[in-house]
Amino acid sequence: MHLKILLAALSWLCHSTLAAKQPNILFILTDDQDWHMQSLQHMPLLQKHLVNEGTLYSRHYCTVAICCPSRVNIWTGRAAHNTNVTDVHPPYGGYPKIVREGINDDYLPVWLQNAGYNTYYTGKLWNAHTVENYDAPYARGFNGSDFLLDPFTYRYYNASLTRNGAPPVSYEGQYSPDVTAGKAYAFVEEALSHDKPWFVVHAPIAPHGDVSFDKKLKFDKPYYAERHAHLFKDYQIPREENFNPEHQGGVSWVAKLPRLNDTVVDYQDEYQRARLRSLQAVDESVEALVKLLEARGELENTYIIYTTDNGYHIGQHRMHPGKECGFETDVHIPLVIRGPGVPVGHISEVVTAHTDLASTIVGLAGSTLQNTDGIPIPLTYEGEEKSKTEHVTIEYWGVAIPEGKYGRYGDLVETGDYDIPTGANNTYKAVRVIGGEYNLYYAVWCTNEAELYDLTTDAGELRNLFSAEYASQREGFSIRNRPFHEVITRLDALMMVLKTCKGRACTHPWEILHPKGNVASLTDSLQPRYDSFYVDQPKVSFTKCELGYIKESEGPLDAIPYAQEGAADDPLSFRYQGPFSIWT
Ligand SMILES: *[C@@H]1O[C@H](CO)[C@@H](O)[C@H](O)[C@H]1NC(C)=O
Ligand SMILES: *[C@@H]1O[C@H](CO)[C@@H](O)[C@H](O)[C@H]1NC(C)=O
Ligand SMILES: *[C@@H]1O[C@H](CO)[C@@H](O)[C@H](O)[C@H]1NC(C)=O
Ligand SMILES: *[C@@H]1O[C@H](CO)[C@@H](O)[C@H](O)[C@H]1NC(C)=O
Ligand SMILES: *[C@@H]1O[C@H](CO)[C@@H](O)[C@H](O)[C@H]1NC(C)=O
Repeated sequence: MHLKILLAALSWLCHSTLAAKQPNILFILTDDQDWHMQSLQHMPLLQKHLVNEGTLYSRHYCTVAICCPSRVNIWTGRAAHNTNVTDVHPPYGGYPKIVREGINDDYLPVWLQNAGYNTYYTGKLWNAHTVENYDAPYARGFNGSDFLLDPFTYRYYNASLTRNGAPPVSYEGQYSPDVTAGKAYAFVEEALSHDKPWFVVHAPIAPHGDVSFDKKLKFDKPYYAERHAHLFKDYQIPREENFNPEHQGGVSWVAKLPRLNDTVVDYQDEYQRARLRSLQAVDESVEALVKLLEARGELENTYIIYTTDNGYHIGQHRMHPGKECGFETDVHIPLVIRGPGVPVGHISEVVTAHTDLASTIVGLAGSTLQNTDGIPIPLTYEGEEKSKTEHVTIEYWGVAIPEGKYGRYGDLVETGDYDIPTGANNTYKAVRVIGGEYNLYYAVWCTNEAELYDLTTDAGELRNLFSAEYASQREGFSIRNRPFHEVITRLDALMMVLKTCKGRACTHPWEILHPKGNVASLTDSLQPRYDSFYVDQPKVSFTKCELGYIKESEGPLDAIPYAQEGAADDPLSFRYQGPFSIWT
């Protein structure tokens, strides 16, 4: 009897697995889109077709807040410290570095082709992917491709694209986000003409600034299509507490920034208006693609994923337009997913990162998981219930580049053929930890300055609890009655694990510190009996500010696992009776 049921169940399972159709995946990847300056709220068609029909992930993060390293993070599912693509151009990043690191042969589109998918991509793939090196070698893994190429990638009205390996074609006079939207539409049509599941990426440049090279790098507002010029005339960047603040926070170069004058602030408001207008072309293309899928009866078998490479700041912390920082403006970004089984009109609060997208997509394709540093993003309510993730690893190497016509941070540094204005040393490691009882950002800079922001009371990240100025807030800070310095020893050890983690250690870092598995969160780690263990951990530090990932300059590399013997580490045997009896 039992055997019969089992056999029936097995046969049903096998049958349904075989019969299950691999879904199509449409991925829309914008460039530098913010969460904190209301860009999503100004995309009505995205709201209608994706947010209202799918799930908005309200705690989604990029792990390295700049285009190329972040895109490598997305398309490989590996942390930047494992890809070692940490910049937009050589020697530490860009297409030549990507090829040299073997990523061109071992990333998501290749994995998906191996899983039986037809794959297509149009728009910006990498940086330093140029009219000269595009076929040395050609980007692998796509059945159809049409890539924007440098130095014309960010020219809104003079794009150059290579199609399937052919010499670049100029689109002078045409609006780049419309050009790539048209190509994306045609790729979806082509994909639908074959009877295989497909993966199509549209990666328009909006709302990135317009960048031209005339001996010197020149940054300006993004251009928008004439049909959108009348929009958002009254829009202003939200005047949050951290917008051009009277009292500046931050460390290193950020702490030294002067307050912006009215001329610059006016320019910044207009800059964001231009970004919102440029996004309207993307908004329209979202609708066109959804309608196409609907007309072909494929909408219900297609996952649509909408996100961006990194966030953006304009005016917050007195900064010129740009990214590269660990502040929420730069790392906390939009992610919307709609598709079969994905909750409709839902706002998810699970903590997710770009590192997780490749695992998510490979999982949807029904392929065995590749060797990533991520974990599939839960796409159902049940999955969300089970999700335990509370941290995001954030890392950065190099300099911060101020954009916009007033953008200057300090001295000009010569790099190759161009003068790149820099924001001085911007190498740091950080971790965002968001749990039921805490909402923290901890960072250690290459200058060995540290930051801790308690976002429950300081959403704008202005009051660094390490600073002498905030000594009284520091005294008042606690989690489960554990004081500031005890929390810091845990966060530092967590960061020590995350800064070199690979694979499971990146998603389950506490297992490295507590191999017996009885600590799985910051809360667990705060138990007083671990105090001396955490005090004795090596600390995250740097000996030098480098422009790339130079291990020798990054201090101790490994955390020490908890080695107490026997039952002492058994949670059931733990009966603490002191002032922190909350633990028992
Ligand atoms: C797409 O490329 C893969 C890998 O080269 C190949 O197996 C597949 O047949 C191609 N699909 C089409 C429609 O040409
Ligand atoms: C547009 O791009 C082409 C190369 O594709 C270049 O030759 C031309 O000078 C550019 N035009 C402008 C106005 O920048
Ligand atoms: C405002 O600041 C900008 C950039 O620093 C500067 O170029 C400009 O002259 C200033 N304008 C006024 C009115 O002070
Ligand atoms: C950046 O860091 C390097 C090495 O630590 C140091 O020599 C240099 O002075 C720093 N630059 C700035 C602008 O602070
Ligand atoms: C990362 O790449 C740079 C440039 O090729 C190299 O100098 C550095 O040693 C690499 N770092 C690691 C940890 O492999």
